Amino acid sequence: MMEIRKYDHRYESDIIDLWNRTLVSDSINPTIFRKQVLFDDNFQDDLCLIAIENELLVGFLLGIKRVYPYLDRGLEPDRAWISILIVDPKFQRKGIGTALVKEIEERFIDKGVKRINIASYSPGYFFPGVDVAAYKESLEFFRKVGYMDLGEAVSMERSLFNHVLTDEFFERKKRAEELGFRFMPFTYDRSFDLIEFLGTNFGGGWKYNALTAMRNKLAEDTIWIAIDSKNKIVGFCMRKMDGNDHRFGPFGVLDTLRSHGLGFILFELMMNDMKQRHLYHLYFLWTGGAGMRFYLRHGVHVYRTYRLFEKKELG
Ligand SMILES: CC(C)(COP(=O)(O)OP(=O)(O)OC[C@H]1O[C@@H](n2cnc3c(N)ncnc32)[C@H](O)[C@@H]1OP(=O)(O)O)[C@@H](O)C(=O)NCCC(=O)NCCS
Repeated sequence: MMEIRKYDHRYESDIIDLWNRTLVSDSINPTIFRKQVLFDDNFQDDLCLIAIENELLVGFLLGIKRVYPYLDRGLEPDRAWISILIVDPKFQRKGIGTALVKEIEERFIDKGVKRINIASYSPGYFFPGVDVAAYKESLEFFRKVGYMDLGEAVSMERSLFNHVLTDEFFERKKRAEELGFRFMPFTYDRSFDLIEFLGTNFGGGWKYNALTAMRNKLAEDTIWIAIDSKNKIVGFCMRKMDGNDHRFGPFGVLDTLRSHGLGFILFELMMNDMKQRHLYHLYFLWTGGAGMRFYLRHGVHVYRTYRLFEKKELG
């Protein structure tokens, strides 16, 4: 008989083994499992479910509801996430996935949740949504259990071995400079300007990323900015937000100055800087729509595509 229980530490290595056999594009080791699952601020053992059949682990569901406020989003009390869901391939199509989802939905509803998203829990997500190539069976599954398909997200990457600054870049930079714009690595004298620029125009998450880089004494090496003729910051990009040298983002230009090529120049300067540091690879996990089209024009290509799922108005 299949039974659903809350997280039990005795099954830790079985969970990691099941994860690596099933989520083959997102394999983990015990260190990452502990850091990103068990030691996450919002981990609650009664929202982390295991499905057991004859003492054998056959399913795992990581549910998340915030117990700590997240920046300016706060506790988001009516939201929750199914961050991970796995059923052992030998036990799939027997209703175990459905039973795990039903159980977590009841537990979420008891805690006041009205809206559940799949995978996209910030800041601790493993992937933005359901990978359409690696986990395509799950697309049908989430539709079947009542989740709405909200659209697409992509992860992108490019090699920097072949990156060069083109004539077009130099022309555009010259034109922007004639209009009074300048582009440079961040320096600490601009710390408060940058924090204010990010907080006002892009919200707490971006501000936090820049602050973390400043705290860790990394900001001067990892952030580029654009300023206007009045010495005001109007554009920003960074890398290494999670400690990984090659991870790019966030990246943004003041909305009133978009489509003037400032983003183009900043991004090219960042790639050039990375190459000079012998960082020959750039990637990021989550973009879509206009962002994706921008990066495609800069030789960055999609390496994974996801569908985003949500269930609303629970309870
Ligand atoms: C998604 C997953 C958890 C579903 O678990 P499950 O126990 O097999 O699901 P259920 O038996 O409850 O299936 C319910 C319905 O989902 C759909 N479904 C599940 N697997 C499917 C498949 N391989 N192909 C088509 N539809 C499928 C069907 O509509 C199914 O109903 P049916 O069996 O009556 O036709 C499982 O496929 C899995 O572990 N996949 C790999 C991990 C993963 O991709 N996780 C999602 C990312 S978080």
